[in-house]
Amino acid sequence: MGGKLGTLFARAGHEVVFSYARSERKLKRLARESQGSARAGTPGDAARDSDALLLAVHWSRVDDVLKQAGDLSGRVILTCSLPMNADDTGLVIAHTSSGAEALAKKLPQAHIVSAFGTVPSEVLFGVFSAKRRKNRPSLVYCGDDDGAKDTAATLIRDVGFDPVDAGPLRIARYLEPFTLLIAQLAYEGEEGPELAYRFERFEK
Ligand SMILES: NC(=O)c1ccc[n+]([C@@H]2O[C@H](COP(=O)([O-])OP(=O)(O)OC[C@H]3O[C@@H](n4cnc5c(N)ncnc54)[C@H](OP(=O)(O)O)[C@@H]3O)[C@@H](O)[C@H]2O)c1
Repeated sequence: MGGKLGTLFARAGHEVVFSYARSERKLKRLARESQGSARAGTPGDAARDSDALLLAVHWSRVDDVLKQAGDLSGRVILTCSLPMNADDTGLVIAHTSSGAEALAKKLPQAHIVSAFGTVPSEVLFGVFSAKRRKNRPSLVYCGDDDGAKDTAATLIRDVGFDPVDAGPLRIARYLEPFTLLIAQLAYEGEEGPELAYRFERFEK
């Protein structure tokens, strides 16, 4: 998710720092191949002076990457990280809370937005390529800070989706299980994981 979204953010004209992998070569390759303004750095480099951070690590790695990122007070953090157990078979937080809300508790001074986690990574380049289409796929997001949500909506549009504001951060407790439905359709269906969704409204 981080590699693909970072690449698309860079192609959309943003300055990107790729961070957090066991191989620095991979981060450098991502920066080089993004064909935009991008570089490899540490989580601390990525956090410094950033307008937005994307948290895209396995739930078991969240504390480690946050420790490496340092002080995140006042930062906008978009999270697509689902609170999955070690073998990715189920959510460890659900129903009465969510990964996004748990993250907000860990970082009370940061502005958390749940975004991008409801689609499979395999669809992202296709959505970006189809940006000129009239009917873009939807992407739901939620959060408690209006400015952070505006930043998220801009990035969501830049990737090629139609941002759908689902309300406050606590709505992530519905959004995260919805992602498991999308994963079921993407990875257990017969038509491949290049799947996005679109909400439509009809006249009364
Ligand atoms: N994949 C999807 O379609 C999808 C969709 C929705 C939400 N999500 C959520 O998005 C998050 C990221 O998923 P992903 O599929 O993008 O995972 P991923 O491909 O495994 O990427 C995770 C990143 O964390 C790094 N990492 C892992 N262990 C590390 C360690 N010990 N030290 C330093 N870096 C480490 C990985 O680097 P290495 O190169 O070293 O492995 C990689 O850069 C997850 O929370 C997932 O639930 C994923």
